[in-house]
Amino acid sequence: MARRKKIYEGKAKTLYEGPEPGTIIQYFKDDATAFNAEKKAVIEGKGVLNNMLSEYFMTGLNTIGVPTHFIKRINMREQLVRACEMVPLEVIVRNFAAGSMAKRLGMDEGTQLPRPIVEYCLKDDKLGDPLVTEEHIAAFGWASQQDMDDILSLALRVNDFLSGVMFGVGIRLVDFKIEIGRVYDGDFQRLIVADEISPDSCRLWDIATGRKLDKDVFRRDLGSLTDAYTEVATRLGVMPKGATPMVRPTLIN
Ligand code: TMP
Repeated sequence: MARRKKIYEGKAKTLYEGPEPGTIIQYFKDDATAFNAEKKAVIEGKGVLNNMLSEYFMTGLNTIGVPTHFIKRINMREQLVRACEMVPLEVIVRNFAAGSMAKRLGMDEGTQLPRPIVEYCLKDDKLGDPLVTEEHIAAFGWASQQDMDDILSLALRVNDFLSGVMFGVGIRLVDFKIEIGRVYDGDFQRLIVADEISPDSCRLWDIATGRKLDKDVFRRDLGSLTDAYTEVATRLGVMPKGATPMVRPTLIN
């Protein structure tokens, strides 16, 4: 069998050439990293959970008319997505103060924000993904003003959708990060939600107890990350009852 071509290996996912031009296979690894990969672990089952959860969120977004790169899930660890040119930004939306913003501005974690706050970080691991302003983005040409208008609108629609979905299962969406890709349809280009949406890239707190159900469990050594992600997946009905995420990956090479 022909070996497929690896395009890129990131911290949590590997990308392979897809079966058709313009497609990519996204493989979700079990690797967890935090603090710019200073802290690392392999958490069995995390890739399966994030694959299923990202499918769930991206499918929901596609259904309500927010364009994403998601085409279909292939198996427990892989999904077929549209190839995009990535905008080199991490787009963060915050509803409550937490993490780096709480620290930077001296706020208590959990303080409700007067409105959703959107932040941009330059996607550059060597620099530790620094916070940048729209001035930097325009001056250095990372995205145009039209792109930024579209990105803001996408980010806020994702926020409303995800906040509602999570509220429906008793979870508060504190903040999240998305990445944006550019695709070309004939002569037109448009921006779509790409990468993944999972508890790796969100802060999710149980509304009743405040229990953290996201990657902070790993960052802050708060217990089992798989248990936390399984709780999210079970509440959303993404994990069939009794199913276990501890499925060995299909061999891919
Ligand atoms: P922060 O408070 O650490 O800046 O994180 C804000 C949100 O972005 C939080 O939901 C976690 C997510 N995030 C990522 O997805 N990747 C990252 O590299 C970082 C630092 C945060």
